[in-house]
Amino acid sequence: MSTVSKEIREGIAIITVDNPPVNALSHSVREGLAREMKELASNADVSAIVVACAGRTFIAGADIREFGSPPQPPHLPDVVNDIEAMEKPVVAAIHGTALGGGLEVALSCHYRVALASAKIGLPEVKLGILPGAGGTQRLPRIAGPANALDAIISGRHVSAKEAKSWGVLDEIVEDNLLEAAIAFAKAAAGNGPRRTGEMKIDGTKFGPEFFAGFRKSIARQTRGYFAPEHCIRCVEAAVSLPLEEGLKRERELFQECMANPQAKALQHMFFAERQVSRIPGIDKNTPRRDIRRVGIIGAGTMGGGIAMNFANVGIPVTILEVEQPALDRGLGVVRKNYERSAAKGKLTSEQVEGLMDQFTGTLSYDDLSDCDLIIEAVFETMEIKKKVFGELDRVAKKGAILASNTSYLDVNEIAACTKRPEDVLGLHFFSPANVMRLLEIVRADKTAPDVLATCVDLAKAIRKVGVVAGVCHGFIGNRMLSPYGREAALAVIEGAKPEEVDAALFTFGMPMGPMTMSDMAGLDIGYLNRQGVGRENYETKAYDWMDRLVESGRKGLKVGAGVYAYEDGSRTPKPDPDVQKLIEEESVKAGIERRAISSDEIVERCMMALINEGAKILGEGKAYRASDIDVVYVNGYGYPAYRGGPMHYADSLGLKNVYDKICEFGEKFGPRWWQPAPLLKELAEAGKSFADFDRENAG
Ligand code: CAA
Repeated sequence: MSTVSKEIREGIAIITVDNPPVNALSHSVREGLAREMKELASNADVSAIVVACAGRTFIAGADIREFGSPPQPPHLPDVVNDIEAMEKPVVAAIHGTALGGGLEVALSCHYRVALASAKIGLPEVKLGILPGAGGTQRLPRIAGPANALDAIISGRHVSAKEAKSWGVLDEIVEDNLLEAAIAFAKAAAGNGPRRTGEMKIDGTKFGPEFFAGFRKSIARQTRGYFAPEHCIRCVEAAVSLPLEEGLKRERELFQECMANPQAKALQHMFFAERQVSRIPGIDKNTPRRDIRRVGIIGAGTMGGGIAMNFANVGIPVTILEVEQPALDRGLGVVRKNYERSAAKGKLTSEQVEGLMDQFTGTLSYDDLSDCDLIIEAVFETMEIKKKVFGELDRVAKKGAILASNTSYLDVNEIAACTKRPEDVLGLHFFSPANVMRLLEIVRADKTAPDVLATCVDLAKAIRKVGVVAGVCHGFIGNRMLSPYGREAALAVIEGAKPEEVDAALFTFGMPMGPMTMSDMAGLDIGYLNRQGVGRENYETKAYDWMDRLVESGRKGLKVGAGVYAYEDGSRTPKPDPDVQKLIEEESVKAGIERRAISSDEIVERCMMALINEGAKILGEGKAYRASDIDVVYVNGYGYPAYRGGPMHYADSLGLKNVYDKICEFGEKFGPRWWQPAPLLKELAEAGKSFADFDRENAG
């Protein structure tokens, strides 16, 4: 059956795209649109045309799955040009999301009617490309260059109301979209076409200064990304060139983006994020448990942040503390967070009150007896966690899910101290928990499938990306962080300055270097961890200098001194000569002759350590797929999405090269930390990639 059909009602042709799930512009849709337009151009019975979509949404863009193969004609730019050239008025009827190529189709129509719930957007920049079917030329003409730049560079979804204020939508209706679009088409039939491409921009208002100012305003958020600058150049072309030339320029710049490795990396991330919820042994028939009320133990920064996620989506929360002042303080912080959003205009004061009404504070475990899910966010020691789970086992109702927000501890051991290990799992949130998108869902040996399935769905419901991990020290993210941090710390003791290590990794694309990150997290956290597990698990050379800092009171940003100095309450790290002196003394003590270490070496050692640990995790089955590891690193640790996460980055280097480099490091720095992961060796020798591994293991 064709993905594009047509029906004629009282002289109005209705073209319907029906290509589930999101009506992407696959080859058959482009062909169908071109075919119907051609036929209707000469159909004397038709005076106007409506383009509508079946299912959940208007066209949500080009078919990203086709990006890897050579494009088949008709090409989208030609299809939209043909639609715009129609002599009969064409009206787009928009529901759901008109995104990317979908919005480009809508912009090539002469008028647009939308449901009030609809959204529009040009999210191509998130895929490392730019709107390549006239979007960069038509949106500035209809919405103005400033609004167009905002939409194209952010890739955000713009509400129907805002889109109407920009002039992109002609009419918004609450329901009966198709009828409204037909009525609109009938009224427009006598007026002829109104072509977006023929609209004029007053170029005098948008000279070089305007674009220079815009570039400056987005510099921080787009650092390292290839496509945004290309998008801006397209909009500059829209302002200064006639449509046809602007479209040509857009095409050239589009091809450059497509050829850049960032496009592949970002498209990998798009699909990777959608893969995470595919869990072996779980499907849509797996039963789910109802989550109507959530209990949180601990009203500290973590507990409060976790609780906000549920309140935000209308799930009431009971939050438990040991003492009233701590409870009051915790709820006070939550209120302050919401009030800060209100001050930015994101919430009204009624909404703040409504959200606060979702919280019930308590000092008694018994008040958790009506909760369907209880998450503990208490101090990170096994002893305390076990005590809490003992209490939970006593008070929680039958069938309640019991979760630990531990970042390192053995969830099997925690589960074993209850009489219902099948109801227990880890839900590891990342700080700040109300902001960070990542949630590690730790599947313990006895976790029941319906418990896991419920939490995977719940992650989506609270707008997180939930990645399932197996039980091991640090799960996926923190386990990988450890060798990364070790190599960074070793580089310092071997001769690099902390600021050189940070600069190298910042330039690679990390949001901050590991030394700044350690200061922010608190150097005492790592210090305590090292005491707890036993020093034999750590490379003492790497951490002795950090331990000395902690012992001298330099615990990081919170005390104004750590690896760096933070003068007068400033949050800006400043290299400190005293620390440098201490580091050099420690080098002497360790018998290390300091040497200059290049930024390439710093990056390579840190990245190889990360990849090798990722390969071990994958080989041990603690992650289901390499792309899950990428999702963890991009969403939890700020790894540059344009590199596609550490495992995709490894693929882009070639696994044989990665393997050889790790062996080389083993020879140079000793084998203790540089044993290549067996899976890496196997894939490298077979000439395969992590993506091949994922494909072969997809079930
Ligand atoms: N191409 C191919 N598949 C797509 C797709 C696309 N453009 N958009 C979504 N899908 C697939 C998803 O992979 C997913 O497939 P599975 O069920 O097999 O995993 C399915 O459609 C549903 O997607 P979501 O789970 O994301 O559903 P949602 O309801 O949460 O969100 C959405 C729907 C808002 C449309 C979201 O899918 C989305 O943002 N899609 C991407 C939109 C986009 O980037 N469009 C621009 C494409 S590039 C372009 O158009 C370039 C050009 O100009 C030539």
